[in-house]
Amino acid sequence: MLAKAIGGLGRLRFVACLGLFSLVGCGDAPKDVAEAVEADVFRHGERLFQRYCQHCHQTHGRGMPGTFPPLATSEWLHGPVEKPIAIVLLGLQGPINREGVLFNGVMPGLAERMSDAEIAAVLSHIRKRWGGIEDPVDAQTVARIRNLLGDRRSLWTEAELLRAYNDNSFKASSR
Ligand code: HEC
Repeated sequence: MLAKAIGGLGRLRFVACLGLFSLVGCGDAPKDVAEAVEADVFRHGERLFQRYCQHCHQTHGRGMPGTFPPLATSEWLHGPVEKPIAIVLLGLQGPINREGVLFNGVMPGLAERMSDAEIAAVLSHIRKRWGGIEDPVDAQTVARIRNLLGDRRSLWTEAELLRAYNDNSFKASSR
């Protein structure tokens, strides 16, 4: 009972700090708040993965041999963010060889169903979960790539993605 009340007070202080720390300071609250916000984005990303990716790539992120490629060990997922963002936006099709296994499937794009912030959160989550990458993906980066892709809706192929992002800068001419 007492513990519950104290817990409640703590939460209250936390919420108050969240609103106030930028004005009056709140002890070590900025660090607490930053960590809490980060943890929240991480959990949000986990829910988004369950909702949008898991039925194909599977809970453990190892995919299904010959059908869905692994994400947990994907070089593209853990490399520069442009390729994974572009894939989530527009999808990917055609042959790819991953860890000696050939995949020739179709991943539909999620540009219409996921917001920039959601794509950033899901990628931040899985890059941290399997790649230990602490640096989150920024929603503004997703917005920039979405913008560059304009009204294009056709799925990527591996060759086209490599041409577009190999030097890590999207070329509009490769549409
Ligand atoms: C309907 C099934 C399906 C869903 C849903 C799906 N994917 Fe995929 N994904 C695939 C398939 C199939 C491929 C490989 C396509 C090919 O063979 O060219 C792929 C490829 C990828 C790749 C490239 C992997 C590599 O190593 O090249 C990434 C990254 C990726 N998906 C991320 C995601 C994320 C993140 C989500 C959720 C936001 C997601 N996918 C949702 C089926 C899916």
